[in-house]
Amino acid sequence: MIILEILTNTALIGNDFLVSLQGWKEFSPGQAHYSSELYFLEYIFFEKNVIFVDLINREYIEEYLSSLVNYTETPIMKEMRSIAIDKAYPIIRPEVAALLNIIIRIKQPQSILEIGTSIGYSGLLMLQSMGSEGHLTTVENQDELIRTARSNFEKQKVLQQVTLLQGDGGEILHYLENKFDIIFLDGPKAQYLLYLPDCLRLLKQEGLLICDDVLFYGMVAKKELLQKRKITIVKRMKKFLRIISDHPLLDTTILPIGDGISISVKRGE
Ligand SMILES: C[S@@+](CC[C@H](N)C(=O)[O-])C[C@H]1O[C@@H](n2cnc3c(N)ncnc32)[C@H](O)[C@@H]1O
Repeated sequence: MIILEILTNTALIGNDFLVSLQGWKEFSPGQAHYSSELYFLEYIFFEKNVIFVDLINREYIEEYLSSLVNYTETPIMKEMRSIAIDKAYPIIRPEVAALLNIIIRIKQPQSILEIGTSIGYSGLLMLQSMGSEGHLTTVENQDELIRTARSNFEKQKVLQQVTLLQGDGGEILHYLENKFDIIFLDGPKAQYLLYLPDCLRLLKQEGLLICDDVLFYGMVAKKELLQKRKITIVKRMKKFLRIISDHPLLDTTILPIGDGISISVKRGE
C-alpha cells in the first residue's frame, strides 16, 4: 500500500490549478477518482509519483492529439505551410484544418465566405473539401497577400472557383448580397462583433458561422493571462462569444482546438 501524504490542504496541479485536497488519504496502486470541492479529478499513481489529471485540455493531450492530426495536404499546400512558417504568415493550425475539413465534408456546402485570406492556405483546404462544385469568396486587405493567394489558387488550378476580394472585411461584408452556406471568420479578431449582423444577414438558414482564434491565447477565459495591450480585443471577443452563445438565431458551441474555434448554426430568419 502506498500512502499519499498531503502536508498542506492544497496542491498545485499543472501550472495553474490550486485544488483543495482536504487532508490525508490512503490509496492502493491503480486508478481511482477523487472528488474535491472545486474540481473532479482523475489520478493515476505509480510508486510514489502521483500524477493528477484534470478533465480539460492539458498540453500533453494537445500534443498527443496533434500527433494524430491527418488531412490531405497537396504539395502546394505543404509548400505554403513551410513558407508561412518562414515568413511568419498566420495560417490555420493543422488541428483547425482537420476540423474544417470534417465539417465541410459533413455539411457539403456550395458556397463559403472567408474573411482573412492570407496566402490562401485555408481557402485551398476548404475548396479541396468542397470539391469541384464549391465556390469560395475570400476577403483580404493586404496587397501582397492577395497577389500570393491568387498565384497559389492558380497553381492549384482552382482559381475559377474563387472570388478574391481585396479590401476591408467590414466594408465588403456590408455590400455583399448573395447568401452563403458557411462563413469562416479568420480576419481581425477585434472586429468579429462588428461583423456579426452582416454575417447573420449573409448566412443561409442552417448555415454555419465558424470563427477562429476565439479563445485568444486563453486570455478570454483567464484574467491572469491578460496582457494590457490586449484588453480591448479580449473584451470585444468575450462580448462576441457571449452574444453568439445567447443569440436567438444561433446554436453555438466553442471548442478548445487550436486557439479556440466557435461553430454556430443559424436556425432561421
Ligand atoms: C489569420 S490570417 C488568415 C489566415 C488564413 N485564413 C489561412 O488560414 O490561410 C488573418 C488575415 O486577415 C487579414 N486581415 C486583417 N485585417 C483585415 C481586414 N480589416 N480586412 C480584411 N482582411 C484583414 C490579415 O492581413 C491576415 O492575412
